[in-house]
Amino acid sequence: MERLVVASSMSLYGEGLYETVDRQLISGTERTQEQLRAHDWELRDLDGNVLKPVPTPETKPPTLASIYALNKFDQEQMCLLVGRAYNIRAVALRFFNVYGPRQALSNPYTGVLANFASRLLNNKPPLIFEDGLQKRDFVSVYDIAQACRLALEVPQASGGVFNIGSGRQFTIKELAQRIAEVMGKGHIEPEITGKYRVGDIRHCFADIGLAQRVLGYKPSVSLEDGLTELVCWLEGQKAEDRVEQASAELSARGLTV
Ligand SMILES: NC(=O)c1ccc[n+]([C@@H]2O[C@H](COP(=O)([O-])OP(=O)(O)OC[C@H]3O[C@@H](n4cnc5c(N)ncnc54)[C@H](O)[C@@H]3O)[C@@H](O)[C@H]2O)c1
Repeated sequence: MERLVVASSMSLYGEGLYETVDRQLISGTERTQEQLRAHDWELRDLDGNVLKPVPTPETKPPTLASIYALNKFDQEQMCLLVGRAYNIRAVALRFFNVYGPRQALSNPYTGVLANFASRLLNNKPPLIFEDGLQKRDFVSVYDIAQACRLALEVPQASGGVFNIGSGRQFTIKELAQRIAEVMGKGHIEPEITGKYRVGDIRHCFADIGLAQRVLGYKPSVSLEDGLTELVCWLEGQKAEDRVEQASAELSARGLTV
């Protein structure tokens, strides 16, 4: 039976799901410009208490904070809607931060790991926005391939929307340190810029429970193994470091604070 699988994205969530001090789930909160200018990076409730990030499930309503997110949400909904109307079995997979061999390296927008790696290959420190303690979910391209295959084959997948992540979370700072170590450049500490990039979220990492239950999805590549393979592949590549150019462009357009 033919199927349509759409590569959707975590970006449509905007901020992930959070929990208040009295353990109520909360979504749709954002940081104020004032707060960001004061380098007060965490999300807070109305009383000023810091909110705790928790794994984000598919039920968290989208908060579309960029043109990219708006586009991905449109693509996802169009595929599902056309699927229902024309009886095409459609499945949307919301990928989290994907990495792996053969990923685009010269494009500064395609992934933080590629950015960090190209900086390190050029013996420069990875540049980190905010304080580096923002959390993300990095998923190997092999697990993305696994999820795509399951989305094509599992009968119950049809019409569904599934988060595809690793189910693990890391801070960006930890990630920069880990990739530097794997590359034998552990002495190059990341540079914390303290800048905020307009549209950036603080934390978002996947609740992959639905994909596990319905698709039988099981992440198989640990960050350690994934980074080691990525680095092996990178060593044979010529990475063009355009991070400084990208940062300068963001700044010139007033997109970093
Ligand atoms: N990389 C991630 O972390 C991530 C996360 C969430 C969602 N996604 C989604 O996954 C998809 C792939 O992302 P990626 O990071 O691998 O991007 P990429 O830029 O590395 O790869 C995109 C590929 O599509 C090809 N392409 C572009 N236009 C085409 C066309 N008209 N016809 C045929 N091929 C075309 C390009 O040549 C390229 O090989 C995108 O839809 C992206 O939004 C990626």
